[in-house]
Parts: sequence; structure tokens; C-alpha cells
Amino acid sequence: MASYHFLLFFLVAAFAISEADGKKKLSTDFYCSSCPELLSIVNEGIISAIKKETRIGASLLRLHFHDCFVNLGGPSWKVGLGRRDSITANRSDANNSIPAPFLDLSALKTNFANQGLSVNDLVVLSGAHTIGLARCVNFRAHIYNDSNINALYAKTLQSKCPRSGNDNVHEPLDYQTPTHFDNLYFKNLLAKKVLLHSDQELFNGSSTTDNLVKKYATNNDAFFKAFAKSMVKLSSIKPLTGNKGQIRLNCRKAN
Ligand code: HEM
Ligand SMILES: *[C@@H]1O[C@H](CO)[C@@H](O)[C@H](O)[C@H]1NC(C)=O
Ligand SMILES: *[C@@H]1O[C@H](CO)[C@@H](O)[C@H](O)[C@H]1NC(C)=O
Ligand SMILES: *[C@@H]1O[C@H](CO)[C@@H](O)[C@H](O)[C@H]1NC(C)=O
Ligand SMILES: *[C@@H]1O[C@H](CO)[C@@H](O)[C@H](O)[C@H]1NC(C)=O
Repeated sequence: MASYHFLLFFLVAAFAISEADGKKKLSTDFYCSSCPELLSIVNEGIISAIKKETRIGASLLRLHFHDCFVNLGGPSWKVGLGRRDSITANRSDANNSIPAPFLDLSALKTNFANQGLSVNDLVVLSGAHTIGLARCVNFRAHIYNDSNINALYAKTLQSKCPRSGNDNVHEPLDYQTPTHFDNLYFKNLLAKKVLLHSDQELFNGSSTTDNLVKKYATNNDAFFKAFAKSMVKLSSIKPLTGNKGQIRLNCRKAN
């Protein structure tokens, strides 16, 4: 459980800077006087949720990423903090904005650049795939058709994810420690043992991203620091502040 502490730290930090009710700018101290206990309450809530189901950490992290790229709406933990919610939800917008696992490096770069995120942000934030799972349908092409994958690793996965069918079989994004937030994802990239085509694109002969991957594979501390920084950047994309958006009464739908 200890390795989740870092994850908890940045989840709390990222959401704290997202509080924006009534203010035109995001700030870290919005609840300083109105709710000084906020951060410890959120922290305790997340810890107890992860104790019950370890994948909750991965789910929250992925949700945060997707919610910052498009206006998918506000789940309850966010409403609780008072960040304003979207009035709209646009499925095709979501389909277009969220990067797909079959994208190549240049498309991934463009996708992130469209949100004001750098190549370093792309590599660092992809390190989130150190936790959580992906479905067969999302990694099938990589394990059957790509050449840049360790042969034995591919074979093991093929035994679980057939050429057709079993689309919803889940496998860990980090085959070594799928519930620990660490830099093994980057070591897996060096060994060509990652699940998604889009992941391996980050270490596939492009010197810029290859060097970043090597750096984070050898320096866990550098990864953690860079990840916290890029998450703050991620959480400040297109926030709804001031009188924009609304606070949903039912977090599943606009008022
Ligand atoms: C770089 C482009 C990215 C692509 C193409 C991508 C794609 C995917 C895909 C296909 C899955 C598996 C979904 C499924 O099969 O159900 C996944 C899972 C996940 N992604 Fe990403 N992702 C990207 C970046 C990110 C970023 C920036 C974050 C967070 C900072 C993130 C966090 C996660 C997490 C935590 C999971 C596991 C979710 C779970 O187990 O419930 N991803 N991603
Ligand atoms: C969005 O993607 C989903 C899943 O691939 C698909 O079922 C849906 O038709 C798409 N919707 C739009 C509006 O593009
Ligand atoms: C949804 O987003 C697409 C672009 O992805 C845009 O063409 C369309 O007009 C939007 N629909 C609504 C209802 O806003
Ligand atoms: C793999 O490539 C073949 C030949 O191009 C194609 O027919 C097949 O659909 C691909 N498989 C996957 C899972 O993408
Ligand atoms: C990158 O990976 C793909 C497999 O998806 C491979 O076909 C291609 O040759 C690789 N590119 C480089 C520059 O190694």
C-alpha cells in the first residue's frame, strides 16, 4: 500500500488546484478557510477506497486524464470539491480528443500538443500505465502484428487474448507490478514488454523520446517529480471557472 502514497499525494494536489467555484482562476488555497480539513478528508476517502479495491487508483487516474482532455462531466469526488462541471458532453468530441492505442508517435505528439502538452509531458504521463489494466481488444494488434515486442511476452499474451473473441479479457499494463506506482513501465519499454502499441511507440527509434524513456527508467525520483509537475499541467487544461459551467445536482448529468 505504501507505494500508493505518492499517487494519493498527487491526486489530492491535482484536485485541490482544480477548485474553482466562483473564482476566475484555479488556486490551491480556495478552501483554506471554508474547509481546512478538505485535503485530509479526501486523502482518507481515497485510501479507504483503494483498500477495498486496488484498481480504484488506476480508475481515478485515467478518469482525471480523460476529463481534462474533454468535458466529460463531473463524478462525485470532484463535485464534492466544488469544481464547476460541464453543461455539455459530446461523444464525437470525446472520441476525437482521447488518444487511441493504435496511434503512432507523431499522432500522439499532435494529440498532446493540441492540449498544450509537450513531448516530455507525453512520455511522463504515459508512465501512468504503471498501474491498471487494458482490454484484449485494445492490445490485440500489438501482440499479433507488431515487430517491436518481446517474442515470449507476446506469446504469453496471445494465449490469453485470441485473434478473435475474448475482447474484454483484461491484462496489466505493467506486467511486473500492476498495482504499484513506480517506474517499471519505463523499464518494460526498454525490454519491449508493454501492452499497448502507443506505449512502445515512445521507445522505438526516435531519439528524443527514447532518451526520455531511458532517463525515467533509470531514475525513479526524476520520474516522480516530473509526473507531479505534468499532472498539475494536465489538471489546468481548459478548467471551467467563474460563471462558466455549473455545479451539478446529479453528477451523472447536466442540471
Ligand atoms: C498517451 C496516450 C494514451 C493512450 C493511447 C492511452 C490508452 C489507454 C488504453 C487503451 C487503456 C486501456 C483501456 C481499456 O482497455 O479499457 C488505458 C488505460 C489506462 N490509462 Fe491510458 N492512455 C494514454 C495516456 C494516459 C494518461 C496520460 C494517463 C494518466 C495520466 C493514463 C492513465 C491510464 C490508466 C491509469 C489506465 C488503467 C485504467 C484501469 O485499469 O481502470 N493514460 N489507457
Ligand atoms: C464513439 O466511440 C464509440 C466506441 O468506439 C462508438 O460506439 C460511438 O459510435 C462513437 N460515437 C461518435 C459520436 O463518434
Ligand atoms: C461535437 O464535437 C464535434 C467535433 O468533435 C463538433 O463537430 C460538433 O458540432 C459538436 N456537437 C455539439 C452538439 O456540440
Ligand atoms: C494484422 O494484420 C493483418 C494483415 O494486415 C490484418 O488482416 C489483421 O486484421 C491485423 N490484426 C489485427 C489484430 O489488427
Ligand atoms: C516502430 O515500430 C513499428 C511496429 O509498430 C515498426 O514497424 C517500425 O519499423 C518501428 N520503427 C522504427 C524506427 O524502429
